[in-house]
Amino acid sequence: MKLLGIETSCDETAVAVVEDGRRLLANVVASQVALHAEYGGVVPELASRQHVQAIIPVLERALAGASCRLEELDAVAVTYGPGLAGALLVGLNFAKALAYARGLPLVPVNHLEGHLYAAWLDNDRAPRFPALVLIVSGGHSDVVLMAGHGRYQRLGQTVDDAAGEAFDKVARLLGLGFPGGPAIDRLAAAAAPTPLRLPRARLDGPYDFSFSGLKTKVQRIVRGEEGEPPPAAAIAAAFQESVVDSLVTRAVQAARDHGAREIILAGGVAANSLLRAVLAERSPLPVIVPPPDLCTDNGAMIAACGYYRLQAGAVAALDLDVQPGLHIG
Ligand code: KG4
Ligand code: ZN
Repeated sequence: MKLLGIETSCDETAVAVVEDGRRLLANVVASQVALHAEYGGVVPELASRQHVQAIIPVLERALAGASCRLEELDAVAVTYGPGLAGALLVGLNFAKALAYARGLPLVPVNHLEGHLYAAWLDNDRAPRFPALVLIVSGGHSDVVLMAGHGRYQRLGQTVDDAAGEAFDKVARLLGLGFPGGPAIDRLAAAAAPTPLRLPRARLDGPYDFSFSGLKTKVQRIVRGEEGEPPPAAAIAAAFQESVVDSLVTRAVQAARDHGAREIILAGGVAANSLLRAVLAERSPLPVIVPPPDLCTDNGAMIAACGYYRLQAGAVAALDLDVQPGLHIG
Protein backbone atom coordinates (compact mmCIF):
# COMPACT_ATOMS: atom_id res chain seq x y z
CA MET A 1 0.00 0.00 0.00
CA LYS A 2 1.47 3.36 -1.07
CA LEU A 3 0.70 6.46 0.97
CA LEU A 4 1.47 10.04 0.16
CA GLY A 5 2.46 12.07 3.24
CA ILE A 6 2.03 15.85 3.21
CA GLU A 7 3.52 18.13 5.87
CA THR A 8 3.25 21.95 5.97
CA SER A 9 2.78 22.72 9.68
CA CYS A 10 5.68 25.16 9.97
CA ASP A 11 8.49 26.14 7.61
CA GLU A 12 9.13 22.98 5.58
CA THR A 13 7.05 22.06 2.53
CA ALA A 14 7.35 18.28 2.57
CA VAL A 15 5.89 15.43 0.54
CA ALA A 16 6.87 11.75 0.68
CA VAL A 17 5.80 8.37 -0.66
CA VAL A 18 5.98 5.47 1.82
CA GLU A 19 5.06 1.85 1.26
CA ASP A 20 3.29 -0.12 4.00
CA GLY A 21 4.22 2.42 6.65
CA ARG A 22 7.87 1.35 6.71
CA ARG A 23 9.56 1.59 3.33
CA LEU A 24 10.68 5.02 2.21
CA LEU A 25 10.25 5.47 -1.57
CA ALA A 26 10.78 9.24 -1.74
CA ASN A 27 11.08 12.04 0.81
CA VAL A 28 11.28 15.60 -0.52
CA VAL A 29 11.64 18.58 1.83
CA ALA A 30 11.75 22.17 0.57
CA SER A 31 13.17 24.17 3.45
CA GLN A 32 12.25 27.81 3.99
CA VAL A 33 15.15 28.42 6.38
CA ALA A 34 16.82 31.01 4.14
CA LEU A 35 13.55 32.95 3.79
CA HIS A 36 12.98 33.22 7.56
CA ALA A 37 16.63 33.56 8.62
CA GLU A 38 16.71 37.29 7.94
CA TYR A 39 13.84 37.77 10.42
CA GLY A 40 15.45 35.56 13.07
CA GLY A 41 12.43 33.22 13.20
CA VAL A 42 9.51 31.84 11.22
CA VAL A 43 7.15 34.54 9.88
CA PRO A 44 3.76 32.77 9.66
CA GLU A 45 2.30 34.57 6.65
CA LEU A 46 5.49 34.19 4.63
CA ALA A 47 5.53 30.49 5.50
CA SER A 48 1.98 29.97 4.18
CA ARG A 49 2.69 31.81 0.95
CA GLN A 50 5.89 29.88 0.39
CA HIS A 51 3.98 26.59 0.88
CA VAL A 52 1.50 27.72 -1.80
CA GLN A 53 4.37 28.21 -4.25
CA ALA A 54 6.30 25.06 -3.37
CA ILE A 55 3.70 22.37 -2.82
CA ILE A 56 3.10 21.19 -6.40
CA PRO A 57 6.80 21.15 -7.43
CA VAL A 58 7.56 19.23 -4.22
CA LEU A 59 4.79 16.71 -4.98
CA GLU A 60 6.14 16.24 -8.50
CA ARG A 61 9.67 15.62 -7.24
CA ALA A 62 8.39 13.11 -4.67
CA LEU A 63 6.37 11.16 -7.25
CA ALA A 64 9.29 11.16 -9.70
CA GLY A 65 11.71 10.07 -6.97
CA ALA A 66 9.44 7.18 -6.01
CA SER A 67 8.77 6.28 -9.68
CA CYS A 68 5.12 6.43 -8.70
CA ARG A 69 2.19 7.89 -10.63
CA LEU A 70 -0.71 9.63 -8.88
CA GLU A 71 -2.90 6.72 -10.03
CA GLU A 72 -0.82 4.28 -7.96
CA LEU A 73 -1.42 5.99 -4.60
CA ASP A 74 -3.73 4.27 -2.12
CA ALA A 75 -4.30 7.09 0.36
CA VAL A 76 -3.27 10.66 1.25
CA ALA A 77 -2.03 11.38 4.79
CA VAL A 78 -1.72 14.97 5.93
CA THR A 79 -0.76 16.95 9.03
CA TYR A 80 -3.81 18.83 10.40
CA GLY A 81 -2.17 20.10 13.64
CA PRO A 82 -0.44 21.27 15.73
CA GLY A 83 1.28 24.10 13.89
CA LEU A 84 0.73 27.47 12.26
CA ALA A 85 -2.90 27.71 11.09
CA GLY A 86 -2.19 29.32 7.73
CA ALA A 87 0.66 26.94 6.99
CA LEU A 88 -1.40 23.88 7.92
CA LEU A 89 -4.28 25.07 5.70
CA VAL A 90 -2.13 24.91 2.58
CA GLY A 91 -1.18 21.25 3.06
CA LEU A 92 -4.61 20.19 4.27
CA ASN A 93 -6.50 21.83 1.44
CA PHE A 94 -4.05 20.42 -1.08
CA ALA A 95 -4.45 16.93 0.40
CA LYS A 96 -8.23 17.26 0.25
CA ALA A 97 -8.13 18.27 -3.40
CA LEU A 98 -5.99 15.24 -4.23
CA ALA A 99 -8.15 12.87 -2.21
CA TYR A 100 -11.31 14.28 -3.76
CA ALA A 101 -10.04 14.18 -7.33
CA ARG A 102 -8.65 10.63 -7.07
CA GLY A 103 -11.33 9.23 -4.72
CA LEU A 104 -8.70 8.36 -2.10
CA PRO A 105 -9.04 8.14 1.70
CA LEU A 106 -7.84 11.29 3.48
CA VAL A 107 -5.95 10.30 6.63
CA PRO A 108 -5.55 13.04 9.27
CA VAL A 109 -2.22 12.95 11.13
CA ASN A 110 -1.22 14.68 14.36
CA HIS A 111 2.20 16.21 13.65
CA LEU A 112 3.61 15.05 17.03
CA GLU A 113 2.41 11.50 16.46
CA GLY A 114 3.98 11.76 13.01
CA HIS A 115 7.36 12.60 14.55
CA LEU A 116 7.48 9.40 16.55
CA TYR A 117 6.64 7.27 13.50
CA ALA A 118 10.01 8.23 12.04
CA ALA A 119 11.13 5.31 14.24
CA TRP A 120 9.20 2.90 11.97
CA LEU A 121 10.86 4.07 8.76
CA ASP A 122 13.59 2.02 7.12
CA ASN A 123 14.24 0.30 10.44
CA ASP A 124 15.23 -3.40 10.53
CA ARG A 125 12.52 -4.10 13.07
CA ALA A 126 9.43 -2.27 14.33
CA PRO A 127 9.66 -0.74 17.84
CA ARG A 128 8.13 -2.83 20.63
CA PHE A 129 5.42 -1.68 23.04
CA PRO A 130 5.21 -0.18 25.55
CA ALA A 131 7.69 2.36 24.29
CA LEU A 132 8.74 5.53 26.04
CA VAL A 133 8.83 8.39 23.54
CA LEU A 134 10.70 11.63 24.06
CA ILE A 135 9.29 14.15 21.57
CA VAL A 136 11.44 17.28 21.43
CA SER A 137 10.70 19.84 18.74
CA GLY A 138 10.50 23.58 18.22
CA GLY A 139 7.02 23.75 19.72
CA HIS A 140 6.82 20.75 22.07
CA SER A 141 8.74 18.75 24.66
CA ASP A 142 6.71 15.75 25.76
CA VAL A 143 7.42 12.48 27.56
CA VAL A 144 4.86 10.01 26.22
CA LEU A 145 4.16 6.36 26.98
CA MET A 146 3.05 4.58 23.81
CA ALA A 147 1.15 1.39 24.68
CA GLY A 148 0.30 0.56 21.06
CA HIS A 149 -0.50 2.22 17.75
CA GLY A 150 -2.64 5.28 18.53
CA ARG A 151 -2.47 4.64 22.32
CA TYR A 152 -0.65 7.45 24.10
CA GLN A 153 -0.35 8.66 27.66
CA ARG A 154 1.47 11.94 28.18
CA LEU A 155 3.56 11.58 31.34
CA GLY A 156 5.40 14.90 31.27
CA GLN A 157 5.86 18.08 29.28
CA THR A 158 7.63 21.41 29.35
CA VAL A 159 6.13 23.95 31.72
CA ASP A 160 7.47 26.85 29.63
CA ASP A 161 9.71 26.81 26.54
CA ALA A 162 10.02 23.76 24.28
CA ALA A 163 13.56 22.36 23.98
CA GLY A 164 13.94 23.53 20.37
CA GLU A 165 12.61 26.95 21.28
CA ALA A 166 15.25 27.19 24.04
CA PHE A 167 17.98 26.27 21.52
CA ASP A 168 16.68 28.92 19.11
CA LYS A 169 16.46 31.64 21.79
CA VAL A 170 19.91 30.92 23.24
CA ALA A 171 21.40 30.86 19.73
CA ARG A 172 19.94 34.32 19.17
CA LEU A 173 21.52 35.53 22.43
CA LEU A 174 24.85 34.19 21.21
CA GLY A 175 24.39 35.81 17.79
CA LEU A 176 24.32 32.47 15.97
CA GLY A 177 21.28 33.07 13.74
CA PHE A 178 18.30 30.87 12.93
CA PRO A 179 17.60 27.97 13.33
CA GLY A 180 19.59 27.84 16.52
CA GLY A 181 19.67 24.11 17.26
CA PRO A 182 22.08 23.03 14.52
CA ALA A 183 24.25 26.14 15.12
CA ILE A 184 24.63 25.41 18.86
CA ASP A 185 25.25 21.72 18.10
CA ARG A 186 28.15 22.64 15.77
CA LEU A 187 29.63 25.34 18.00
CA ALA A 188 29.48 23.16 21.12
CA ALA A 189 31.23 20.32 19.30
CA ALA A 190 34.15 22.66 18.61
CA ALA A 191 34.35 23.95 22.22
CA ALA A 192 37.36 23.27 24.40
CA PRO A 193 36.48 21.50 27.68
CA THR A 194 34.95 24.11 29.98
CA PRO A 195 34.37 24.32 33.74
CA LEU A 196 31.17 26.33 33.09
CA ARG A 197 28.19 24.41 34.44
CA LEU A 198 24.65 25.73 34.06
CA PRO A 199 21.79 24.73 36.37
CA ARG A 200 19.12 22.06 35.77
CA ALA A 201 15.58 23.04 36.73
CA ARG A 202 13.86 21.17 39.57
CA LEU A 203 10.11 20.69 39.14
CA ASP A 204 7.18 19.06 40.93
CA GLY A 205 6.15 16.81 38.02
CA PRO A 206 8.75 14.01 37.91
CA TYR A 207 8.86 14.01 34.10
CA ASP A 208 8.31 17.72 33.41
CA PHE A 209 10.87 20.12 31.95
CA SER A 210 11.57 23.83 32.25
CA PHE A 211 14.06 25.73 30.10
CA SER A 212 13.18 29.39 30.57
CA GLY A 213 15.32 29.80 33.74
CA LEU A 214 18.29 28.37 31.86
CA LYS A 215 17.73 30.85 29.03
CA THR A 216 17.60 33.75 31.52
CA LYS A 217 20.83 32.54 33.11
CA VAL A 218 22.54 32.50 29.69
CA GLN A 219 21.20 36.00 29.06
CA ARG A 220 22.79 37.27 32.30
CA ILE A 221 26.11 35.65 31.42
CA VAL A 222 26.12 37.05 27.87
CA ARG A 223 25.31 40.55 29.14
CA GLY A 224 28.29 40.38 31.50
CA GLU A 225 26.09 40.52 34.61
CA GLU A 226 28.03 37.59 36.09
CA GLY A 227 31.54 38.80 35.28
CA GLU A 228 33.63 38.53 32.12
CA PRO A 229 31.60 36.24 29.76
CA PRO A 230 33.29 32.99 28.68
CA PRO A 231 33.65 32.32 24.91
CA ALA A 232 30.38 31.68 23.05
CA ALA A 233 31.43 28.08 22.35
CA ALA A 234 31.77 27.40 26.09
CA ILE A 235 28.33 28.86 26.79
CA ALA A 236 26.81 26.86 23.92
CA ALA A 237 28.39 23.66 25.25
CA ALA A 238 27.25 24.25 28.84
CA PHE A 239 23.73 25.14 27.71
CA GLN A 240 23.47 22.07 25.49
CA GLU A 241 24.79 19.85 28.28
CA SER A 242 22.16 21.16 30.71
CA VAL A 243 19.26 20.66 28.26
CA VAL A 244 20.44 17.18 27.29
CA ASP A 245 20.91 16.14 30.92
CA SER A 246 17.35 17.26 31.80
CA LEU A 247 15.84 15.47 28.81
CA VAL A 248 17.74 12.22 29.24
CA THR A 249 17.22 12.04 33.02
CA ARG A 250 13.42 12.40 32.67
CA ALA A 251 13.14 10.00 29.73
CA VAL A 252 15.20 7.25 31.37
CA GLN A 253 13.34 7.61 34.69
CA ALA A 254 9.93 7.51 32.97
CA ALA A 255 10.95 4.44 30.95
CA ARG A 256 12.07 2.63 34.15
CA ASP A 257 8.98 3.61 36.13
CA HIS A 258 6.57 2.47 33.41
CA GLY A 259 8.21 -0.76 32.29
CA ALA A 260 8.97 0.47 28.77
CA ARG A 261 10.75 -1.95 26.43
CA GLU A 262 12.46 0.75 24.44
CA ILE A 263 13.00 4.47 24.19
CA ILE A 264 12.18 6.35 20.99
CA LEU A 265 13.69 9.76 20.40
CA ALA A 266 11.63 12.02 18.10
CA GLY A 267 11.31 15.62 16.86
CA GLY A 268 13.75 18.16 15.46
CA VAL A 269 15.92 18.32 18.59
CA ALA A 270 16.46 14.55 18.27
CA ALA A 271 18.91 15.54 15.52
CA ASN A 272 21.19 16.91 18.28
CA SER A 273 24.44 14.95 18.41
CA LEU A 274 24.97 15.21 22.18
CA LEU A 275 21.38 14.17 22.94
CA ARG A 276 21.75 11.11 20.71
CA ALA A 277 25.06 10.13 22.31
CA VAL A 278 24.06 10.71 25.96
CA LEU A 279 20.73 8.92 25.63
CA ALA A 280 22.41 5.90 24.06
CA GLU A 281 25.00 5.91 26.86
CA ARG A 282 22.61 6.31 29.81
CA SER A 283 19.61 4.27 28.68
CA PRO A 284 19.33 0.77 30.15
CA LEU A 285 16.97 -0.06 27.24
CA PRO A 286 17.38 -0.20 23.47
CA VAL A 287 17.12 3.31 22.02
CA ILE A 288 15.65 4.03 18.60
CA VAL A 289 16.92 7.26 17.10
CA PRO A 290 15.93 7.97 13.49
CA PRO A 291 18.52 9.51 11.14
CA PRO A 292 18.68 13.33 11.54
CA ASP A 293 16.77 14.09 8.31
CA LEU A 294 13.83 12.01 9.55
CA CYS A 295 13.92 13.75 12.97
CA THR A 296 13.23 17.22 11.57
CA ASP A 297 9.91 17.91 9.81
CA ASN A 298 9.27 15.69 6.78
CA GLY A 299 6.44 14.01 4.87
CA ALA A 300 7.69 10.44 5.35
CA MET A 301 6.87 10.39 9.06
CA ILE A 302 3.36 11.63 8.21
CA ALA A 303 2.87 8.88 5.63
CA ALA A 304 4.22 6.23 8.06
CA CYS A 305 1.87 7.36 10.81
CA GLY A 306 -0.98 7.67 8.29
CA TYR A 307 -0.56 4.03 7.32
CA TYR A 308 -1.14 2.86 10.91
CA ARG A 309 -4.00 5.36 11.41
CA LEU A 310 -5.63 4.03 8.24
CA GLN A 311 -5.32 0.44 9.53
CA ALA A 312 -7.27 1.65 12.57
CA GLY A 313 -9.95 3.16 10.32
CA ALA A 314 -9.02 6.81 10.70
CA VAL A 315 -10.38 8.42 7.53
CA ALA A 316 -11.39 12.09 7.66
CA ALA A 317 -14.46 13.68 6.10
CA LEU A 318 -13.60 16.29 3.48
CA ASP A 319 -14.78 19.13 5.72
CA LEU A 320 -11.88 18.48 8.12
CA ASP A 321 -10.44 21.69 9.61
CA VAL A 322 -6.92 22.34 10.91
CA GLN A 323 -6.25 22.09 14.68
CA PRO A 324 -3.31 24.42 15.42
CA GLY A 325 -3.33 23.59 19.16
CA LEU A 326 -3.55 19.79 18.95
CA HIS A 327 -1.76 17.71 21.66
CA ILE A 328 -0.68 14.12 22.02
CA GLY A 329 -1.86 11.86 24.88
O1 KG4 B 1 10.44 19.08 14.73
P1 KG4 B 1 10.96 20.30 14.08
O2 KG4 B 1 11.69 20.16 12.77
O3 KG4 B 1 9.83 21.35 13.88
C1 KG4 B 1 8.80 21.48 14.83
O4 KG4 B 1 7.85 20.66 14.80
O5 KG4 B 1 8.96 22.37 15.70
O6 KG4 B 1 11.92 20.97 15.16
C2 KG4 B 1 12.57 22.19 14.91
C3 KG4 B 1 13.45 22.49 16.10
C4 KG4 B 1 14.10 23.86 16.02
O7 KG4 B 1 13.88 24.53 17.25
C5 KG4 B 1 15.57 23.55 15.79
O8 KG4 B 1 16.44 24.51 16.36
C6 KG4 B 1 15.70 22.21 16.49
O9 KG4 B 1 14.52 21.52 16.17
N1 KG4 B 1 16.86 21.45 16.00
C7 KG4 B 1 17.92 21.13 16.78
C8 KG4 B 1 18.87 20.48 15.94
N2 KG4 B 1 18.34 20.41 14.68
C9 KG4 B 1 17.11 21.00 14.74
N3 KG4 B 1 18.14 21.36 18.09
C10 KG4 B 1 19.34 20.94 18.59
N4 KG4 B 1 20.29 20.33 17.86
C11 KG4 B 1 20.11 20.07 16.54
N5 KG4 B 1 21.07 19.46 15.82
ZN1 ZN C 1 7.98 18.99 13.94
